[in-house]
Amino acid sequence: MATKGSAKKKSAKKSATKRTAKRAAPNDKDLNDLFYDQLKDVYFAEKQILKALPKMAKAAQSPDLSAAFKKHHGETEGQVDRLERIFKLIDKPAKAKTCDAIMGILDEGKEIMEEYKGTEALDAGLLAAAQAVEHYEMARYGTMKAWATQLGMNDVVSLIDQTLQQERKCDKDLTALAEGAVNSEAMAA
Ligand SMILES: [Fe+2]
Repeated sequence: MATKGSAKKKSAKKSATKRTAKRAAPNDKDLNDLFYDQLKDVYFAEKQILKALPKMAKAAQSPDLSAAFKKHHGETEGQVDRLERIFKLIDKPAKAKTCDAIMGILDEGKEIMEEYKGTEALDAGLLAAAQAVEHYEMARYGTMKAWATQLGMNDVVSLIDQTLQQERKCDKDLTALAEGAVNSEAMAA
């Protein structure tokens, strides 16, 4: 019995050490790690967006909306390129990390394309989906710009800012389209 008890104690001690070791590891991480994680996350997101935009351009009924998606597809290629330059600047491999948030937003867009195909409300739905994507990106790049500033990485800040300005402009253009023809057509229908 005594042996069994001490064995129990031993294993309890062992698992306590394991737990401490597990907890200690994340505490070694700093803002540089967080920045790299976020970079991998947004790299994944941009690549997914790159795949989704041509489908959205094809689905859009309004020529203006379709043109806006095509234009942003070209910009997104440049944004992926900028991210790869940032990986180089921080001397880390360019890796994509699955981002569930963007997958969820893009899945909603897919759902709209399927469920509203051939209806007058389709473009309004596509606009809403695209603006959700833009707001996600603005949130990510805004945070990354702040962190890069804090880390004193001026070259990185300027690259992120170029992309952030593009995302903001794209969002404004989408708002203008939403306030214009697209939503009134849906309402008239
Ligand atoms: Fe983007």
